[in-house]
Amino acid sequence: MKDYSEFLQEVLISEEALQARVRELAAEISRDYRDQDLLLICVLRGGVMFLADLMRAITIPHAIDFMAVSSYGAGVRSSRGEVRITMDLTTAVEGRNLLLVEDIIDSGNTIASIMELLNTRHPKSMRVCALLDKAERREAVVAIHYRGFTIPNKFVFGYGLDLDEYYRNLPFIGVVQPDKYVPPD
Ligand code: IMP
Ligand code: MG
Repeated sequence: MKDYSEFLQEVLISEEALQARVRELAAEISRDYRDQDLLLICVLRGGVMFLADLMRAITIPHAIDFMAVSSYGAGVRSSRGEVRITMDLTTAVEGRNLLLVEDIIDSGNTIASIMELLNTRHPKSMRVCALLDKAERREAVVAIHYRGFTIPNKFVFGYGLDLDEYYRNLPFIGVVQPDKYVPPD
């Protein structure tokens, strides 16, 4: 596997900027849900780095759970109603305040499908906390209550986001230079 420096076009969001923004979001969430039950739901795998930092900065008691979904078909695009749960929650969500923690909202189809599904389980409330919002690409209507950064329509990686499953560990958000990145075989 190549070093990311071979295809990193630019660092879009530095580690410092990410950490500062995560602390701001955590402060907002801690204020909004004070004295209320809170269940953070992390959408695997991209949301895991964000969740780990966010939950450490949230100052109120809360629980966490995980779920994983995949789009039907091998395409890079997800489409509404074509999201399949590959790993479900282990917690009952009925009557609870859910906060979905996502790495990035792109078309919005993935999160819209997840919300539609979780709604059938009758939570008390449900909100979305997304680190990145690729707003120009939106197809589904999604209300993002807590948004880290709005980013341009470029493919990014690092801080949980992958390039063919690698590079999630990088502490910053980088932009891929498409002509320099060669996917592994
Ligand atoms: P959506 O259903 O189009 O909103 O897709 C969202 C999912 O696509 C995210 O959870 C990511 O896994 C993936 N994704 C979208 N844009 C990027 C990107 O720039 N880098 C890495 N993954 C991305
Ligand atoms: Mg994701």
